[in-house]
Amino acid sequence: MDLEDYLKREGISNDQRELVDIISTSHPSAQERFCSLSDSYVAVNIPENISAFYDLIAEMGLYNALLSRFYASINQTMPHFLKHITGDSVLDVGCGNGVKTIFYAQHNPDKTFIGVDISHRSLQDAHSRKQRYGLRNVHFIQQDMTTLCFARQFDTIIADKVLHETQRLSGYCYGEWGYEPQFVEHLTVLSNHLAGHGKILVTLTPCSLDWFLGHFDFLVDSAGLRVEDVLLVDYDRAQQSTTDIVYTITK
Ligand SMILES: C[S@@+](CC[C@H](N)C(=O)[O-])C[C@H]1O[C@@H](n2cnc3c(N)ncnc32)[C@H](O)[C@@H]1O
Repeated sequence: MDLEDYLKREGISNDQRELVDIISTSHPSAQERFCSLSDSYVAVNIPENISAFYDLIAEMGLYNALLSRFYASINQTMPHFLKHITGDSVLDVGCGNGVKTIFYAQHNPDKTFIGVDISHRSLQDAHSRKQRYGLRNVHFIQQDMTTLCFARQFDTIIADKVLHETQRLSGYCYGEWGYEPQFVEHLTVLSNHLAGHGKILVTLTPCSLDWFLGHFDFLVDSAGLRVEDVLLVDYDRAQQSTTDIVYTITK
């Protein structure tokens, strides 16, 4: 199945509506809970708040609505990732409801995929999607990427729009950056799980693009890794021009 058909089948379209607007019409009774969890997550992004927020999104069946907001970017980044997945084993950290992991696994039946996420409820959706597509080469496990613990290494590690989750969000969202030690810590965790010849594929969408482009290379370097390639993906989101940065990182 090609990407366009797959996304359509999964209900992911170019729908730019804010989640809160969808919730106010389709889940009015959950609106207050959503706003409160969203506020807590943005204010203090500790693992408990992150998982509670994404659990609720999955519980309300809104994970794909969240992805729809990035449709224009997904259309470009997923084919790029598909092309750059190499080796026998692939780890997708922050895989959410597994919609992307499943697509990659379908197209690489000879490779084994493991998707990890902190949100238990999102992983339930990932499991049922795996059953629905009858895949045997993908497994989903609940883990916190900051304390990732596998007694093995992977040929490709995907970290698609997840590394920012545990950063100071004021920096990521509003450009108030300083030195961000957590990026280095969490890249080091990924590095420890990467085979010597392997690649880490990272997508990030920081607000202050120019500043971030210079700064992130330094953080990658500090984790003992190297930026091999950078792809800039420009698109409009909610009538604002946005850029996703897609890094290919090696040891
Ligand atoms: C913005 S979504 C991106 C999902 C998916 N990678 C994609 O590109 O569509 C971020 C995901 O990362 C997960 N996440 C956030 N912090 C995490 C952590 N510390 N460990 C594992 N997963 C985490 C969230 O639960 C959520 O499912």
